[in-house]
Order: sequence, then C-alpha cells, then structure tokens
Amino acid sequence: MRRCDRFIAALALAAVFLCAIVCCVSDLAFRTIARSFGCGLAFAEMISANGLVHGNKKTEKLLSTSPADRPLGIQLAGADPGTIGRAVEKLRGRSFDLLDINAACPVRKVVRRGEGASLLKEPACLAAILAEAVKRATVPVTVKLRTGWDHTSRNAREIGRLAEDAGVAAIFIHGRTRAQGYSGDVDYAAIREVKNAVRVPVIASGDGLSPRLVTF
Ligand SMILES: Cc1cc2nc3c(=O)[nH]c(=O)nc-3n(C[C@H](O)[C@H](O)[C@H](O)COP(=O)(O)O)c2cc1C
Repeated sequence: MRRCDRFIAALALAAVFLCAIVCCVSDLAFRTIARSFGCGLAFAEMISANGLVHGNKKTEKLLSTSPADRPLGIQLAGADPGTIGRAVEKLRGRSFDLLDINAACPVRKVVRRGEGASLLKEPACLAAILAEAVKRATVPVTVKLRTGWDHTSRNAREIGRLAEDAGVAAIFIHGRTRAQGYSGDVDYAAIREVKNAVRVPVIASGDGLSPRLVTF
C-alpha cells in the first residue's frame, strides 16, 4: 500500500492508501478484496502497449473490470512514443480513471526491450512517451519510477522534473534502484528529494511493513 494525497489532478481518491501493482496478482478478484479493506485506488496488471495495439488476447483479459472496480488505473509498458500513443487510443471508451506509464519494471525481458526501468537511462525517450500519453489520454497520466538504474545513477529527481514538465499528474516511486530489484532497504530520502523537486503529488512505494512506516 502507498500513501498519497486525496487527489490526482481532478481524480478524487477514496483513501490515502493505494494498492501497489503486482504483476500476476492484481487481477479483478484481488482488487475487489483490496477495495473492501479501504484501498483508495487500484491498478490492473501492467500491460504491454505493443500487445494492446496488436489485439493480444491475454492483454485483453488483463483489462477485465467491473462497475465497482473504481477508481481504476491502467499501467502501460512500452519503449516507443508512437506505440504508446496508439495504445492510448485503443483504450478509448474503456472505463478507467488513470493511466500510468511504467518506468520501473526491473525484469530482464522487459528492460531488454527498452521498456520499464531502462527508460530511466533514456530520459529523452521517456519524456517523449509521457508527452504522447498526456496528449492522447482522456484521464490523468502518471509515471512509475525507481530511484535510478543503479547506485551510480540515482536520477529520480531529474526524471521526476522531466515527467512533470511532460505533463504527468502524479509520480509513483518505488524507492529502490533497478539493480536492487525487490530487495534491500527502500531509500525514503530519495523519494523525498523527488517530492521536494516537483509540485505534483508523489506517492511512495516500498517496505510498507508496519503502520509506523507507512505514516512516516
Ligand atoms: C512480484 C511483483 C510484481 C510487481 N509488478 C509490478 C508491475 O507490474 N508494475 C509496477 O509498477 N510495479 C510492480 N511491482 C512493484 C510494486 O508495485 C511495488 O512498487 C514494490 O513491490 C514496493 O516494494 P515492497 O515490495 O517493498 O513493498 C511488483 C512487485 C512485485 C514484488
């Protein structure tokens, strides 16, 4: 769960704690249970912009939702502004409230395609992707970051500013580098640096293991 202000642009959140996206877990059943515990915003599982554009059946299944499944975020992974733009167009007419661009996924097959966390190493490409999504989306666009690619390149503050300039409505940040994967301590100071550098809401993610930690 992640802590957040009550609004992302004009989108009112049902609570300050939001449900982090977990691939292969965040399906409709999981989201329904999370909402019953007071989660203020839930995301469908990350989908490939390329898969969406090409009408992949699995991608379609990942987008299953219900009228009670709101507010709902959809997260896209992609490496190319044109493909992201076409994917955003494909989402037109669907019921969802927020579009997130993934610049955080550490998985090798994802970063090898230039998607996910590898976008932290390609700021110009990420800026173009975000600008394209903002231009075409009818809902607020957000971005999910890590603190950097590795400990020698912690650039989340610069990326956060660039994302804000591209028009994102909020920044989600998993407080580990790509090199850390899902282990090691979360760097809350790095998340705070991003928060201090931008005006849009910054939502911290990681190590939410106790009530004391999640209300820091
Ligand atoms: C198995 C697994 C799958 C995940 N899949 C996604 C994903 O598809 N998109 C995303 O933005 N974050 C994903 N995350 C990251 C979480 O949303 C969250 O930011 C991260 O797990 C926070 O760290 P914590 O595990 O210390 O709470 C995933 C995390 C795990 C453990």
